[in-house]
Order: sequence, then C-alpha cells, then structure tokens
Amino acid sequence: MAWSGGSSPVTMFDALAELDVPWRLVHVLQVDERVAPDGHEARNAMQLCEHLLARVAVPARQVHLMPVTSANLAGAAGRYARVVERLQPFDLVHLGLGDDGHTASWPPGDPVVDALTSVAVTGPFAGWRRMTLTPRPVNAARSRLVLASGSSKADVVDRWLLHDASLPIERVRRTGTTVVLDAEAARLGQRRAGG
Ligand code: 6PG
Repeated sequence: MAWSGGSSPVTMFDALAELDVPWRLVHVLQVDERVAPDGHEARNAMQLCEHLLARVAVPARQVHLMPVTSANLAGAAGRYARVVERLQPFDLVHLGLGDDGHTASWPPGDPVVDALTSVAVTGPFAGWRRMTLTPRPVNAARSRLVLASGSSKADVVDRWLLHDASLPIERVRRTGTTVVLDAEAARLGQRRAGG
C-alpha cells in the first residue's frame, strides 16, 4: 500500500486502523513527502504514523518512509526507487486531488510527470520541494483509490472526469482506479439523476 499526504486521508486512516487487515503481511510506502525535517508538521509521515502506523501492527522493516532529510536528495530518491521496484506492483496506491488538479506531488507544469524513474524530487511547490512517486509505479499498481472531499474540489473533479488533459491527475490510469468523493466534492443534488 502507498499513501498520499494532505489533510483528507486522516479520517480514512482512522477508519482503516479499525478494519481487520493482515497488517503483518503489508508493506506501507509513501506516495509523496515534503522535503522537511523529521517531526515537522508539514511532513506527511506525521499523520501516517499518528493515525495509522501507531495503531496497526505493520512490522517496522515493512514501513518505508521517504528519506527526505538526506543531504543528497537525488541519491535518496534513487534508493527509494529501488525499494519501490522491489515491491511493485503495489496492491493499492491512494491519491488525493488538489484544487489545481495535482495529485501525488505532481505540480501543474512540473516535468516530474514525464520522469523515467519511479521516484523523483520536484521543485518548490506550495512551500516545499517534494519527493514523489512518478506515474510509472502509480499506474503499475493493481488498484488506485482517489479520495477527494470538500466543495473546493468540485470544479476540478468535474474537469478531471471530463478528461481535462492540463490536469496532472489526468496522468493516472483510470482502469483499476476507484474514485471516492464526499457529497460536496461530488456536487450531489446539483447533478441530473444518472448524470
Ligand atoms: C501532499 C499531498 C497532496 C494531496 C492533495 C490533496 O503532499 O500535499 O500528497 O497531493 O493529496 O493536495 O490534499 P488535501 O487532502 O489536503 O485536500
């Protein structure tokens, strides 16, 4: 399983921690991580650890957090890529959706979406450089879960579902991808029945 960051996953992690999952068999990876110090509130690992890993019995050797504090980020991304390639195809990759259409840490216009490696480091985006899986391992996974919540995502959800090629999330393979939206992101009540 590979998990994204942002604020939406917290409720999902809390619910997932209550499910009967054979965690001793699971490897947990990150989809992306801000290049910030250990313990910094911006780190996606903070909520992953607090809301999931602290509550389920994944063996420590099967937890693979992105090495974003390395002085050699390119080398660290290469090391993480080797872990990704050893473990892929993943069973599940979780993705969020930014209101600008980014997912993982694929900023609009950033060349990371065309990287030939499995893991890359972005330029500064929303205050941080990021280490991120590229589309290759994301699309190689057996399944993907896109979770989006809140009215701020409704417009970009519409644009994505209508195949707006300018959105980085358009690089995500649709086959094997489940989209979970809350009522606001799905504009429930504003759509025609069956629309
Ligand atoms: C990150 C996330 C990012 C997130 C989207 C949605 O590191 O910021 O991985 O891609 O999934 O920005 O974020 P919210 O869940 O906060 O809306």
